[in-house]
Amino acid sequence: MTEARVVRVTAFGGPEAMELVTERLASPGTGQVLLRQTAVGFNFIDIYQRRGVYPLPSPTGLGHEAVGVVEAVGPDVTEFRPGDRAAYINAGIGAYADRRIVAADRLVRVPDGLSDEAVAAVIFKGMTAQYLVRKTHRVAPGDLVLVHAAAGGVGLILSSWAKALGATVVGAVGSEGKRVAALAAGCDHVVVTADPEWPAAMLAATGRRKARVVYDSVGRDTFLKSLDCAAPFGLVVVYGAASGPAPAIDPELLNKKGCLFLTRPSVFPHNAETGILRENAAELFDAVARGWVKPTIGARFPLTAVADAHRAAEARATTGAIVLVP
Ligand SMILES: NC(=O)c1ccc[n+]([C@@H]2O[C@H](COP(=O)([O-])OP(=O)(O)OC[C@H]3O[C@@H](n4cnc5c(N)ncnc54)[C@H](OP(=O)(O)O)[C@@H]3O)[C@@H](O)[C@H]2O)c1
Repeated sequence: MTEARVVRVTAFGGPEAMELVTERLASPGTGQVLLRQTAVGFNFIDIYQRRGVYPLPSPTGLGHEAVGVVEAVGPDVTEFRPGDRAAYINAGIGAYADRRIVAADRLVRVPDGLSDEAVAAVIFKGMTAQYLVRKTHRVAPGDLVLVHAAAGGVGLILSSWAKALGATVVGAVGSEGKRVAALAAGCDHVVVTADPEWPAAMLAATGRRKARVVYDSVGRDTFLKSLDCAAPFGLVVVYGAASGPAPAIDPELLNKKGCLFLTRPSVFPHNAETGILRENAAELFDAVARGWVKPTIGARFPLTAVADAHRAAEARATTGAIVLVP
């Protein structure tokens, strides 16, 4: 029997709802490994789930991604051995822990040259950017792309990857202080959404050109204006709700705004099947090796201070990724 320190939520609510407890882990069963987790990625979805906005049965763990070292394998596991480094993004909720039993077919190998914290900074957010620039819309040279929360965890990666694929990138950030980070990630122009006239600022910056694709992860505060920033027949991708859910609209509005396409995708179905998960991870790590995507750690917190990590994210006080260190 192994012990694990695990974050549990029994009553959904504020950051104080998360409690670090000690639990006993059974030995890994058929198809499973025991992973000693060295770095855990924070993602904004963890906040929606802690608050109960995305409902979960309670009590629940939290967290979707971690990286670590395999300590033991189940009887039939042949593709991983004790000592191997591996990571996951989609192994069921409960990544906020120092040890965890994980299905081996959910694991991906990680490149030798990348530290565990760098992997935790890039894998979930980078796999999100991967499907957004390669599948939801295949970003091509000449595309004008608008990226919301461009200085955030996903935003920096999405901006730099779209830029590397030849797009002109407009980054939208919530405050002036985040401008430098968005520009450093490759944004050609940056608009600050604290100014309610930010769509006009975007058009002024682009010579009145609108976006072929808008990546909106902010939701309520930006969605309707995002529709105004999309070119005729353009695509609006609502993939998050950091400010609250985007308002419901009449489909007729898409016609009025220029026969727009609207989609609301998620990283999980894009990585449900093991072979595809590993192909997508390989594409991400290739983008990292080429320098198209850079792991950027904006803040580190020990797992014992997970509530502080959530408070920092809710306060919009960070740029890049937040990494939790068990
Ligand atoms: N659908 C998917 O597959 C998928 C996968 C991963 C992540 N996501 C979404 O992508 C977004 C980014 O995720 P992340 O983990 O990288 O987080 P993040 O971007 O580091 O943090 C969220 C950002 O949203 C912006 N924001 C706007 N209004 C906010 C508010 N009222 N409260 C807090 N933040 C607000 C802030 O940037 P500014 O201050 O610059 O506005 C903040 O930094 C989230 O919406 C997340 O849910 C979706």
